[in-house]
Amino acid sequence: MKHDNEFIDTWHFVRRVEGWLEFDEACFLYDVAKHLDVEGCILEIGSYKGRSTICLARGSQEGKRFPVYAIDKFYGFPASVDPSFLDTFKKNLAAAGCLNIVDVIVLSSDEAAFVFVHPIALLFIDGSHDYEQVKKDYENFSPLVVPGGVIIFHDYKYFPGVKKLVDEVKGNRKAVKYHSMCSQNLSNIAAWNTEVIDG
Ligand SMILES: C[S@@+](CC[C@H](N)C(=O)[O-])C[C@H]1O[C@@H](n2cnc3c(N)ncnc32)[C@H](O)[C@@H]1O
Repeated sequence: MKHDNEFIDTWHFVRRVEGWLEFDEACFLYDVAKHLDVEGCILEIGSYKGRSTICLARGSQEGKRFPVYAIDKFYGFPASVDPSFLDTFKKNLAAAGCLNIVDVIVLSSDEAAFVFVHPIALLFIDGSHDYEQVKKDYENFSPLVVPGGVIIFHDYKYFPGVKKLVDEVKGNRKAVKYHSMCSQNLSNIAAWNTEVIDG
């Protein structure tokens, strides 16, 4: 399999960060963030220690440099392992050279929905995987996604709450264009362009 050399540089940082995002999924996020063709920010719900945030931020740095907003409570997940991981998150992003393009929003996604107003070019939802919360996250933030923007969910395959919501709302949307050769194994990702395909 041929890999995007630029992404390999990014993977060098991502692979050291604890998290669940697989190589192909990471490459996909990087690639979509790099090649966005509508104007807006990148918004991530659920950042944990920064694995996906680094992909989005470094992709944006290589592309149009849209700001990345990272929403997470940064507390209590999984509480027994690391009760407060905001410092770890920031250190991981700094090591990857992308902290400067990321605005961290230390709030629950429900709280953030009251204050967040920016048009979104890429919405990545990977916070709570509970159906009711995934639904709220989608309903609160998808109206801010600009026409032709992209919505991506992680954990579509393994979390019934994510799958249920995605299957309810995805409808007849366009597939997301991506350019890299490494995004082969994306069954745990649900992604679409907000444009509806007629017919
Ligand atoms: C699956 S992890 C995210 C993994 C991350 N995207 C990565 O690539 O490593 C889920 C994260 O969402 C956060 N989270 C869960 N529910 C949330 C909520 N309602 N508001 C904000 N953050 C939330 C948790 O604190 C946790 O860090």
